[in-house]
Amino acid sequence: MTMETPSFTSTTNKNQEFGPLSPARATEAVARRIAVHPGMASLRLFGERLRAKPLDRAELAMMFASTAEFFREIPGGILALALRLTDDWMPFRRFGAVSEGAQILYSAVDEFGLHQLRRGVQQSHHQYFLSMIEGFGYGENDLLEPANVTDAASEMAALTNLFYRHRSIGESLGFHLASELTSDIEFSLCLEGLQAFPREYSLTGPEDDRLGFYLIHTQVEPMHGASGQTAVERYLSRRPGTADEVRAGADAFMTGYGRFFIALLDRLSAGSDRPCSYPNVAQGIGRLN
Ligand SMILES: [Fe+2]
Ligand SMILES: [Fe+2]
Repeated sequence: MTMETPSFTSTTNKNQEFGPLSPARATEAVARRIAVHPGMASLRLFGERLRAKPLDRAELAMMFASTAEFFREIPGGILALALRLTDDWMPFRRFGAVSEGAQILYSAVDEFGLHQLRRGVQQSHHQYFLSMIEGFGYGENDLLEPANVTDAASEMAALTNLFYRHRSIGESLGFHLASELTSDIEFSLCLEGLQAFPREYSLTGPEDDRLGFYLIHTQVEPMHGASGQTAVERYLSRRPGTADEVRAGADAFMTGYGRFFIALLDRLSAGSDRPCSYPNVAQGIGRLN
């Protein structure tokens, strides 16, 4: 018996009107989702806290150590995703797969100190970070001291390892996009927070050498965000059905990211005489501890 095929005329019209977004618009939608996520509000609150009052020596050690823990997996993770994306494209674009992977690898060039071809291999960002904190009078042991590292920072390192290396390409790309789109704002806010108290942090000026790590990131991160968006858009052009995965990866990053800053704020407020003034954001994304 042949089933009668119902008419979908009106549904078809609806699909034309509300159908799947184009790859470009789907990518923009994920970028907007990242921009309005509560995790972004947590970052901005942290930036406000940095500008409101200088951190004391123990607080600064906690911020640097937790940041170092968070960043631990990022260079290797970007490298892993660039390789996975290249392999994923290879059966479809024999001579273009490598350039697809390059959109991700581009973010890791300066992480690995490969940004100045004529000068050979330069300091990696991990080394650069260590040099910076040494300039502030800390050492590697301060970065590795467990008491200085929040649980949320370790969670971000674990999430970074998981999402860049092991989850689906769509989820990995979403996670990476969120990482790059938040970085520009994050480095700018941290830079401004340190520049706000030159006397307390013994800075010679807003471009003190010890701020170089933050200054350089404010210059390169917008380009990383753009290439991350290109990678997502191109992947969605081949696999439009994976937009949900991209969104899920971005959400995973933003949730862990929000926890990271709330945990820092909690530790800062715990050591001050002022009560924590950000309970709503903390409740909104859930506390780690
Ligand atoms: Fe970096
Ligand atoms: Fe970046």
